[in-house]
Amino acid sequence: MARIVGIAGSLRRASFNSALLRAAAERAPAGTEVEIASIAGIPLYDGDVESEQGIPVAVSELKERIASADALLIVTPEYNNSVPGVLKNAVDWLSRPSKDVARVFGDKPVALMGATTGMGGTRLAQNAWLPVLRTLGARAWFGKQLYVTGAAQAFDAEGKLVDEKVAKLLAEFMAKFAAFADEGRSPPAR
Ligand SMILES: Cc1cc2nc3c(=O)[nH]c(=O)nc-3n(C[C@H](O)[C@H](O)[C@H](O)COP(=O)(O)O)c2cc1C
Repeated sequence: MARIVGIAGSLRRASFNSALLRAAAERAPAGTEVEIASIAGIPLYDGDVESEQGIPVAVSELKERIASADALLIVTPEYNNSVPGVLKNAVDWLSRPSKDVARVFGDKPVALMGATTGMGGTRLAQNAWLPVLRTLGARAWFGKQLYVTGAAQAFDAEGKLVDEKVAKLLAEFMAKFAAFADEGRSPPAR
């Protein structure tokens, strides 16, 4: 059974990206567990804090959850046509100390999805994550793409996904990504 840790890159209570992560977890195929983690409580990266106090607890807890998971699902907002600072900051902390990067991210199946209120659907943010994932040595999954546009219409006031077309795409995305995550756990084919 694949265990996928999911993080959404928004701190907003009514975040559409957090709602999308919950919808993804609900639509994961049988036998796949999506564990929703949070970047809340992660401070701004400060090299002095790192060298004087070490890695903050919120960071090390999330790091260990990701390290022990079979895969990582990143649900990213798009800010100014790129990655949102709060999520990049969290990933930057998660990449410290650098000797842990291989254990946490190395060869880890990682998928991206996201939601915007406008028509872009996080296309540019998702593309902007790719060099970061490459640097971390993650195994980015390119099997499907999911860009949720017009998020205020796709979700209801309680943050429930009500757009059936998106729901279908999301279920397909999760089925394929879960299979990819499972593959990563098999010994390499000879
Ligand atoms: C600083 C800032 C920059 C934004 N830039 C973009 C953008 O480049 N493209 C886009 O489609 N939406 C952009 N938006 C709108 C976001 O898609 C929208 O606020 C969305 O709801 C954020 O995700 P969340 O609901 O998960 O917090 C921006 C919003 C903020 C606050």
